[in-house]
Amino acid sequence: MIYPIVKFGDPVLEKPAERVSAFDEELKRLIDDMFESMYSAHGVGLAAPQIGIGRRIAVIDITFKEDPNAKLVLINPEIIRSEGKHTQSEGCLSIPDFRENVTRPNKVTVRAQDMNGKTFEKTGEELLARALLHETDHLNGKLYISHLSALKRDLMKRKIRKLMKAGEW
Ligand code: NI
Repeated sequence: MIYPIVKFGDPVLEKPAERVSAFDEELKRLIDDMFESMYSAHGVGLAAPQIGIGRRIAVIDITFKEDPNAKLVLINPEIIRSEGKHTQSEGCLSIPDFRENVTRPNKVTVRAQDMNGKTFEKTGEELLARALLHETDHLNGKLYISHLSALKRDLMKRKIRKLMKAGEW
């Protein structure tokens, strides 16, 4: 099932999501649906709040279907190590048609559970590090615009409000 993507302005995106404790069939189905919804929206990462579900689940595939082994499921993820700095243009499916340069750590390690509840650690650099940080942020109710200067963020919000008024958001 393909879920519609929730856009900026919906409070679910700015509320910390709840921990997952049941690793059941329903969760597995939801993860399948999240991958399907992410690919359908041409994204490389998706967090459950972005489909209106406030639970700590995220999926990532920075290769966009090229490498099946690159598919990553993060349940209850936490960033446990980070180092370096890397600046790159970043976007979000929930803030369509906007992109901004965001500086983030260049290398991070996340600790998370897989769909069976097993704890694992994964280290990523550059694009993968960015995706791990971006999706973990989502589960903490944080959007990438929170890493921008207040000036840039306000400008962006003003543009979005205009689109909302015009019924184009
Ligand atoms: Ni996002």
